[in-house]
Amino acid sequence: MYSRIVATGSYLPDKILTNKDLESIVDTTDQWITERTGIKQRHLAADNQSTCDLAEQAVRNAFESADIDPQSIDLIIFATTTPDRVFPSTACLLQQRLDIHGCPAFDIQAVCTGFIYALDIADKYIKTGAAKRALVIGAETLSRIIDWSDRSTCVLFADGAGAVILEANEEQGILSTHIHADGSFSDLLTTNASITGVNNIGKVHIGMKGNEVFKKAVNTLGAIVDETLEANNMQKSDIDWLVPHQANIRIINATAKKLKMPIEQVVITVQNHGNTSAASVPLALDTAIRDGRIKRGETLLLEAFGGGFTWGSALIKY
Ligand code: ACO
Repeated sequence: MYSRIVATGSYLPDKILTNKDLESIVDTTDQWITERTGIKQRHLAADNQSTCDLAEQAVRNAFESADIDPQSIDLIIFATTTPDRVFPSTACLLQQRLDIHGCPAFDIQAVCTGFIYALDIADKYIKTGAAKRALVIGAETLSRIIDWSDRSTCVLFADGAGAVILEANEEQGILSTHIHADGSFSDLLTTNASITGVNNIGKVHIGMKGNEVFKKAVNTLGAIVDETLEANNMQKSDIDWLVPHQANIRIINATAKKLKMPIEQVVITVQNHGNTSAASVPLALDTAIRDGRIKRGETLLLEAFGGGFTWGSALIKY
């Protein structure tokens, strides 16, 4: 039994912040941001929009695309680092919005790798027969935890949501998933505050040693590509599409180079979306499915790296 992707959806809030706009907020330039990150613009949630609001739009978008009855969902896994509340989980808040009752619903917090972690868990539920139709979401309102006076981070992160619906099927779907973590790197990419108040320094915001994160991300993603191909006895040339976490165009290029993959076979949305953390991979996936680039039967390699550090991949026959 496999879990197959039967529908995808995504949502980006209306408000767009360009690099030019950022020039009037911090000491930066469009040229610096473009050259160092590949980002040209990003979407930001409206003041009254929460992570669950963005997710609901993405999920409804997914349901519509495949005409699936929400009542048939028997598992909800929601990857986010910016939940609406400490509890109930954003998965439960979303479940209530969808008028679904009774099925398990929970959040996963693995920062930018959150969606891959959620996919890994949903796949295992389906493979063991514990679920038949799972809703997997990655959604963030990272703009709420950005220090808008810190030019080294505020130009990177953004808001958005993506969702997939997985179904138990005898046809090939998710071929394998691989997830990892190493907490000894927790200080390189972190927040300065917690809701318990322990070690709090001011209002919660993202802090990052960008250069060190960059180097570790490039090496780690190179290794997970090898691990994924080896586990499936596949060659680099067997991959039709790389769907990477959209953090930085230079990290994406390095992974594509490692795979000897022409850049035309890499889904790149970082220029329009910025880094939307757990939402970035499902947003990129939905974009390339809807614009017709990714077709049924093709082999996709999804990968991500993020705070924790956490990292992971999924090899999928779409
Ligand atoms: N505008 C202009 N100058 C800037 C800006 C900015 N927005 N930000 C930093 N600088 C300056 C720095 O102050 C520094 O100046 P100095 O040389 O006078 O000290 C100079 O630019 C170079 O800074 P570096 O940090 O060395 O620049 P680098 O080339 O490493 O690029 C970047 C920084 C883009 C953050 C890069 O390190 C990166 O992308 N790292 C990975 C970050 C990442 O992907 N994080 C997320 C992964 S995990 C996740 O998604 C949560």
